[in-house]
Amino acid sequence: MFPVKRMRRLRRTSKIREMVRETSLTKNDLIYPIFIDETIDEKTEIKAMPGQYRLPLQEVRDEALELVSLGIPAVILFGIPRKKDALGSEAYNSNGIIQKAIKEIKDEVGDDLVLITDVCLCEYTDHGHCGIVKGEKVLNDPTLDLLAKMAVTHAEAGADIVAPSDMMDGRVSAVRNALDDAGFTETIIMSYAAKYASAFYGPFREAASSTPAFGDRKSYQMDCGNSDEALLEVKMDLEEGADIVMVKPALSYLDIIYRVKNEFKVPVAAYNVSGEYSMIKAASEEGFIDERKIALEVLTSIKRAGADFILTYFAKDASRWLE
Ligand code: PBG
Repeated sequence: MFPVKRMRRLRRTSKIREMVRETSLTKNDLIYPIFIDETIDEKTEIKAMPGQYRLPLQEVRDEALELVSLGIPAVILFGIPRKKDALGSEAYNSNGIIQKAIKEIKDEVGDDLVLITDVCLCEYTDHGHCGIVKGEKVLNDPTLDLLAKMAVTHAEAGADIVAPSDMMDGRVSAVRNALDDAGFTETIIMSYAAKYASAFYGPFREAASSTPAFGDRKSYQMDCGNSDEALLEVKMDLEEGADIVMVKPALSYLDIIYRVKNEFKVPVAAYNVSGEYSMIKAASEEGFIDERKIALEVLTSIKRAGADFILTYFAKDASRWLE
C-alpha cells in the first residue's frame, strides 16, 4: 500500500503508459458502413451525419479501394432501392442494388475487403417495417422465408458475411438452413443478436429512408431496460448457428457487450450507431468537444467492454488517426 505502492509510477511518460495499456484500438477493429442508393447519380451527404454519404452504384468500386488503402478490413452494405413494396421484393432480387454492389466490390478488391451485408427488409418495404405486415402487426414466421431468400442472394453475389438485423425469432436458423441448402456452408452469419429499440438509430433512418410509416419497432427490437434478455437472445442465436453476435447500439450498452463477451467467449461485434456518431459530430462542430479525442475514447471504451470489432462511421477517420 501507499507509500510503497504508487499508481502514478506507471503513468509517468507516454511510452510507459503505452507499455501498460490494457486495451488498444487498431485499424483491424473497424468496420465501415456504406449506403448504396439506386435513386441517385451523385454522392449525396446525409444531413444528420456530416461526412457520411449515400453512394450511387458507380462509386462503390472507388469506395472499396479507398477502404483497402486505409487498411480497414471490412465493410457493411446497406441498400436503398428505387422501388419499395409491401413485401420488400427488391431485397431478394438477385439483380437488386445490393446484389449488384456486392459483385462490383468483389470484382474490384476480392478478399482484400471482408464484405458484410445487412439482411433486413426495412429499407425495402413501403411501410418501413422489418417484416411482413398485416394490419398493424409485423408477422414473424412468414418473414423468415424472405430473409432467408435475401441472404442467399447476397451469398450468391459474393458476400462473405450476412448480418440479419430484423430481430424476427428464428431468423438465424432460417438463414443458416437456406444458405446450407444452397451450398453456401462457408458463408458466415453475424447476427444482430441483442438489438435494442433505440432512438439512436434516428439519423440512419434518414440515411436509409427506413422510418416506419406507422408505429415503432418495439414489438421486435429489445427494450432498453433489459439485460438478462440480451443473454438469452445471444444464446438462441448461437444455438441457431450464428458465428458472430452483435450488440447494438454500443455506447449506452457497454454493460451488455461486457456480459455477452464474458458469458459466451465468442466473437462479439458492437455497432457504434448513427446517433452516437451524430452527437459527437454536432457537439464538435459547435466546438464543445474535441472530435478526435472523444471518438477514439468512445471506440476504445467499446473494445474495453469486450467487443472484438466495431461497426462505426468513424472507421475512415479513426484509421487515419491511428496511423
Ligand atoms: C435495420 C438496421 C438499422 C440500423 C442498422 N440496421 C435501423 C433500425 O433498426 O431501425 C441502424 C444503424 C445505425 O443507426 O447506424 N436494417
